[in-house]
Amino acid sequence: RPPRQFATPLPVPPRARPARTTGGVDVYDITQREGSVEIVPGLRTTVWGYDGIFPGPTFTARSGRGMEVRVRNQLSVPTSLHLHGGVTPPHSDGYPTDVLVPARCGAAFEAARTAHGSRGGTHAPAVDWTVSPGHRTYTYPLDQRAATLWYHDHRMDFSAPQVWRGLAGMFLVHDREEDALPLPGGERDIPLMICDRSFEEDGSFRYPGHSPACTGTPGVQDAYMDGVLGDVQLVNGAPWPQAEVSATRHRLRLLNASNARRYHLVLEKEHGGRLPFTQIGGDGGLLAAPQRLAGIPISPAERFDVVVDFTGCPVGSAVTLVNTLANGRMRQVMRFRIARRAKDPSHVPARLSRFTALRAASAVATRHFDFRRSGAVWTINGRPFSTSEFLARPRLGTVERWRFTSDLHHPVHLHMAHFQVLSRAGRAPEPTDAGWKDTVDVRPHEAVDVLVRFRGYRGRYMLHCHNLEHEDMAMMANYLVV
Ligand code: C2O
Ligand code: CU
Repeated sequence: RPPRQFATPLPVPPRARPARTTGGVDVYDITQREGSVEIVPGLRTTVWGYDGIFPGPTFTARSGRGMEVRVRNQLSVPTSLHLHGGVTPPHSDGYPTDVLVPARCGAAFEAARTAHGSRGGTHAPAVDWTVSPGHRTYTYPLDQRAATLWYHDHRMDFSAPQVWRGLAGMFLVHDREEDALPLPGGERDIPLMICDRSFEEDGSFRYPGHSPACTGTPGVQDAYMDGVLGDVQLVNGAPWPQAEVSATRHRLRLLNASNARRYHLVLEKEHGGRLPFTQIGGDGGLLAAPQRLAGIPISPAERFDVVVDFTGCPVGSAVTLVNTLANGRMRQVMRFRIARRAKDPSHVPARLSRFTALRAASAVATRHFDFRRSGAVWTINGRPFSTSEFLARPRLGTVERWRFTSDLHHPVHLHMAHFQVLSRAGRAPEPTDAGWKDTVDVRPHEAVDVLVRFRGYRGRYMLHCHNLEHEDMAMMANYLVV
């Protein structure tokens, strides 16, 4: 029986705590392991979680204060940890073939690797593996603005089923500019990891593909090549949860962590009418000024940082977060119940941040990336993913104009480099395209032009579709920052 809606209180993932601090660097220990959790009431689900929980613990970091994350892999599959939205050196960026292989996989993984010289998969050759046995350290300098990031698995060919089983968490970066703003904080600053899943009768996750193992054949069943959708809506790992809130402003950090589902989110009041969102930030941090939005289109991996004002809502009433793209039970996402009145010292100032708008004239190069299906694979510029090919060689410190075109919906994501949307279908960008972004939804037969700023590090990075099934079916490419 499917879980009842709004019967589970909204969980908020625990904060990750540093194990120690050395020389101004906070060191965290994280173990990727199985955990048993109750998602569907009355049943147990085995998750593959960071510290055995789903979502993983929420990291809270300071801009410019370095962090090391020591990861131990006690799962029965190789993993790769990617900090999504992070300005991270290449060796810690979670490249798909830069894998952390658990002890129990070591021999099998090595045998397959040497026998095939490839990942043994069907989609594209991948020759250069970097293998860390059992544990490794990821270094995050975090020389970047305050923003809502997240982290998730990025294992070659198996990101989709491994994220589906729980390998994802939130990662918040704070800075002085944001600290100085009177935005809602503390319990009124709530990360919302929104994703859909399906479950078997016994409570285990249902995913229409091979269960990932040490080695093996990647991909989903053919019928799911467009992406896997679930029939249970989760927020912070709970089905259709309810959050009790005071009749005050709240900051909601919306993340679409779904494999393939897109949402158009609105807030419906119980007694009719809608509540607007005030957007204050996007993937790459605060906007210059807040903007009011009636609805929010959010594709996989995008973030919208919003303030919602419940002040006018009667105590006892409910406000439902609704996805207007879905029908039936999947139309509801979660509910807020207005539990009490309270003082509210917060407000949303008219100016939020020093925001540098990029100018098209500053672009030193123009490049085109076409996202399209070709037979049984998803390609970029007609090429399935290969670890040794580079589709672009931008120079560190420059701005380039990149054009993305598509056959269907593809949420296009760049590692390391952030960008601003310049135009959509030849027209001015939409209000919901505002701010620094790292993921943009390219709609069917549409051209989206973005201005990308390459600041950070030299080396190999990727761009790819963040529909995780498309990603696993080769819709990834490298660019090299020189
Ligand atoms: Cu969130 Cu390369 O991904
Ligand atoms: Cu795609």
